[in-house]
Amino acid sequence: MNYQEWLKNKDLEYQNGVLHIAGANTIDLAKKYGTPVYVINERLIRERYKTLKQVLDSENKNNQIHFAVKANTSLSVLKILLSEGAGFDCSSVGEVHTCLKAGAKPEHIIYTGNMFTNDDFKFAVENDVLVNLDSISQLKRLARIHDELGKEKKIISFRINPEFGAGHHVHTITAGKEIKFGILDNQVIEAYLKAKGFGFKQFGTHIHIGSGIINPYDYDKAIDKYLGIIINLADTLDITFEFVDFGGGLGIPYRPEEDPLDLEVYKEIVVKRSKEAIEKMGMEKPAIKVEPGRYLSAEASIILTQINTIKNNGYKLFAGVDAGFNTLIRPTMYGSYHHIISCLQNEDRKEMKYDIAGPICESGDILGKERTLHELQEEEYLAILDSGAYGFIMSSSYNSRPRPAEVLINNGEDMLVREAETYKDLLKSQIIPDHLK
Ligand code: LLP
Repeated sequence: MNYQEWLKNKDLEYQNGVLHIAGANTIDLAKKYGTPVYVINERLIRERYKTLKQVLDSENKNNQIHFAVKANTSLSVLKILLSEGAGFDCSSVGEVHTCLKAGAKPEHIIYTGNMFTNDDFKFAVENDVLVNLDSISQLKRLARIHDELGKEKKIISFRINPEFGAGHHVHTITAGKEIKFGILDNQVIEAYLKAKGFGFKQFGTHIHIGSGIINPYDYDKAIDKYLGIIINLADTLDITFEFVDFGGGLGIPYRPEEDPLDLEVYKEIVVKRSKEAIEKMGMEKPAIKVEPGRYLSAEASIILTQINTIKNNGYKLFAGVDAGFNTLIRPTMYGSYHHIISCLQNEDRKEMKYDIAGPICESGDILGKERTLHELQEEEYLAILDSGAYGFIMSSSYNSRPRPAEVLINNGEDMLVREAETYKDLLKSQIIPDHLK
């Protein structure tokens, strides 16, 4: 894929010398809303959802995509996905609450927490939300809370750790013996046997092996192991599954030299094999579920940021911008690459190498290292791509810098969907004790 196509695939294009997102002029947006600002492209979210849905449908229509809300909890994003038919994967009560507020029904939600508290369970049971347990030890408390609330024990699921993990960074690999998530192979029978014993009537199973998987073959071993485990489970305990969940993890091309994830290969490895396994178990019912976060939302957002300082220290060139690791933590936290481009098409200028530096008072506040760009000037704008997953949601107000606004582009119109925080907001939850007044 050439570079123009790569950009076009993210619905980005230079028109009349200016970068446009979904047909909207990025410089006009930056001036109208101020910077830094997150810009979300509604049509790309819909497009990604439809593409994945078609791929799943082509092999097994009994499927459900649950958007992993941890990637992006903007109510607009949730409502867009809900209108497409998505369900949600939540990792906390806060996320479940947000999804319910966005209009999701409890049956659209899977709550895959870890280190659940009694309050977490209480909220889930009171709201009829399916809990996907992370440890056998949690079962007893969950069962007791059902009894205390007088709720019928309907469906239960466990997160299984298939030991073969993958991901873009060691912190995003979520399977393996050393990893805190899920239950290992040798505890699976015991877990479901106990669940039966506590009176749960229906069962699901789940894995999530990691995040940022651009090579679909990385799923290969984990899927084989998982299917082996659940075939054995169904056989041994004579149970059928309501759903078999393969988690998320589907990567996106952050770098221009990367191609998008090959969904056809993903389908072969995950969907086709699971269908065969389900047939082998003689089950008709189970839906297959997947839980992508990044795949659905990452490429749909860019951050617009203004250059305020071009600094040549005699050794290195820095382009200082008003977005920093408070706005987007991924480069600093994981060393992640986010492609950064000028909003002005400036190819007539000579090429230079810059470190794109944020305003945070730490040397690690570099959004892009040694990036080759056509000469930049102070007061011009840059776009940081692929920031729609784990972007705003992981932002902070570090250095007392308020979080930015979010703007949605739909049908050529731009609309504010989240106001920027104010300095007042930064202080609003603090209480000054009497003796300091
Ligand atoms: N399901 C479960 C149970 C998960 O824990 C996750 C992500 C997902 C689904 C969605 O994964 P995705 O499809 O988005 O890869 N902050 C990191 C990513 C952490 C992901 C944690 N769990 C980053 O910025 O790359």
